[in-house]
Amino acid sequence: MSKEMELVRHRRSVRTFDGCALRPEDADSLLAFARSIQTPYDLPITWRLLSAEEHNLSVPVIVGADTYIAGKIRQVPHAEEAFGYAFEKLVLQAESMGIGTTWIAGTMDRPAFEKAVALEPGEVMPCISPLGYPAEKMSLRETMMRRGVKADSRMPFSALFFDGSFNVPLPEGGPWQEALEMVRWAPSAVNKQPWRVVMCGRQAHFYEQKSKGYVNAAGWDLQKVDVGIAMYHFAFALGERVLFSVEDPGLSLPDGVSYIATLTVL
Ligand SMILES: Cc1cc2nc3c(=O)[nH]c(=O)nc-3n(C[C@H](O)[C@H](O)[C@H](O)COP(=O)(O)O)c2cc1C
Repeated sequence: MSKEMELVRHRRSVRTFDGCALRPEDADSLLAFARSIQTPYDLPITWRLLSAEEHNLSVPVIVGADTYIAGKIRQVPHAEEAFGYAFEKLVLQAESMGIGTTWIAGTMDRPAFEKAVALEPGEVMPCISPLGYPAEKMSLRETMMRRGVKADSRMPFSALFFDGSFNVPLPEGGPWQEALEMVRWAPSAVNKQPWRVVMCGRQAHFYEQKSKGYVNAAGWDLQKVDVGIAMYHFAFALGERVLFSVEDPGLSLPDGVSYIATLTVL
């Protein structure tokens, strides 16, 4: 197994931490890493490390961590995918340092976080994550939450990946098997896995299969964040040797599916 695959398979949402403060050198290193991330859409993200105690932040599902990382971005077209891509790059970097994370979009005191990051009109703070060292044992609540969303399983390969058109499932064992397997194991909101990929030669066309109720009144689409995460997993698997483009190949699409972007393997 490649070291990238090991990292992806080892990562899980960590909601129970050991109670030790994030070491200052880890905090500095992660913040510097976050600030160095370029999104494929060239949209800048502003990153903040926050202390829950200092800012009076509460995240009911998280136990034993005080430090959070939050990012905010201008709400422009493609902000969701850009944010997903960048934040997941940070999540995998944290994982490689032994630091646990959980993507949190819903279960937080959002007004308190938005105040702490000084959110301005026209900006969004899509998600935050705790940062800390995983506890040896999960809380009962964490165990129940994981069960509720079947967090340890994913849809089968044949339901997610296609060969040239949505009518033909991609056979397993091809040249992109490992990269797509890493896409399959990406995290997503409520574990819905809304990404679909059509392989055409060296091109991976990424699509969103929308579930109901994920687009909010302001037009923000959380499942596009998930597709951004999936795209980063594909790029990560290939050492980021991919070319990014947004050029809809015009394939015929099943209901509820829309084109997001293409990664061409170099
Ligand atoms: C965009 C996004 C938003 C999420 N929001 C929450 C959340 O609000 N609360 C929570 O406990 N988990 C949240 N999660 C974590 C998912 O439930 C989790 O990634 C999924 O169940 C798969 O489990 P795993 O991360 O352990 O592989 C979110 C994940 C993503 C990608």
